[in-house]
Amino acid sequence: EQINKGKYKHYMQKEIHEQPESLTTTMRGRLLRGGSCKAKTVLLGGLKDHLKTIRRSRRIVFIGCGTSYNAALAARPILEELSGVPVTMEIASDLLDRQGPIYREDTAVFVSQSGETADTLLALEYTLENGALCVGITNTVGSVIARNTHCGVHINAGCEIGVASTKAYTSQIVVMAMLALAIGGDTISKQERREAIIDGLFDLPNKIREVLKLDQEMKDLAKLLIAEQSLLVFGRGYNYATALEGALKVKEVALMHSEGILAGEMKHGPLALVDENLPIVVIATHDACFSKQQSVIQQLRARKGRLIVMCSKGDAASVCPGGGCRVIEVPQVEDCLQPVVNIVPFQLLAYHLTVLRGYNVDQPRNLAKSVTTQ
Ligand code: AGP
Repeated sequence: EQINKGKYKHYMQKEIHEQPESLTTTMRGRLLRGGSCKAKTVLLGGLKDHLKTIRRSRRIVFIGCGTSYNAALAARPILEELSGVPVTMEIASDLLDRQGPIYREDTAVFVSQSGETADTLLALEYTLENGALCVGITNTVGSVIARNTHCGVHINAGCEIGVASTKAYTSQIVVMAMLALAIGGDTISKQERREAIIDGLFDLPNKIREVLKLDQEMKDLAKLLIAEQSLLVFGRGYNYATALEGALKVKEVALMHSEGILAGEMKHGPLALVDENLPIVVIATHDACFSKQQSVIQQLRARKGRLIVMCSKGDAASVCPGGGCRVIEVPQVEDCLQPVVNIVPFQLLAYHLTVLRGYNVDQPRNLAKSVTTQ
């Protein structure tokens, strides 16, 4: 049942639209509500015997490639906030190129949809040799990474066929948010924050249903962008990862140059590219970085930038006073879960751009679903 296209034309389209269900499956049995019907706890069976060790780690190192790396990047801030343990990021091939330091006191978290990616696997071997605790987050039960790590969590997103990873990305973020909650434990000072996140997780499938209604709007946007050479995406904070992942989706399937840029770096180079022709998406949903993104928008507008602004519902006037930019309004959720919502319009945009440009959606040229060679 999982591996036919059902009512959809392409696997990627199906996998984008089934995210309310795949996220529900990812969370099933792992979020526990207390007696008063209030969300209370997270239970990750595969980690329960290792949580103490993880909490005492010198640092947590996320290791992955491509979309899986981006998912870990999206989860990094909440892991730092709830665990209090320093979190660093490693692209698997780069860790190997540098033979970067890994310590016995580290916890290394390997993120991989397939569980078979060669670079990630070699990084796992290297990390095991260096004595760190290795945690696997994969979508494939019995995969090499799942088997060779000390413990782990399956994301249970269901089989993903499209080369462009979509539903696995959102499920990976949700698993890592649950990981942050589990590592964070039960400190009183963070109780309210934890409960807000757990409530947000319960409601997330509904919010994804809501954001999927932007399908036609994204198709219209794709029609406008069909002949463009390039697309920039500016994000920061929780949504720096969304900028990287949104650009990766457009690049890998629509074969259009696209670059995700950390908005805080804008003045250090990318600003030189801005003119009235180059389309730029600015992610400015409501979180602690909102006013900084408002100021980025002002600066881009002052240079006549051609802006598409993604904002929280009801914020259109405050992100684009006086009009003049195209606005994509998305439902607002708890800040650390916002990347799960915000990526969906990019997935839809990449999908429609690809179909309109006449390229192969499920099997982009030169790419394989699982990169098993170095
Ligand atoms: C995602 O759209 C890409 N096809 C690619 O970046 C992928 O995420 C990467 O190769 C890692 O794969 P993995 O998650 O199976 O390890």
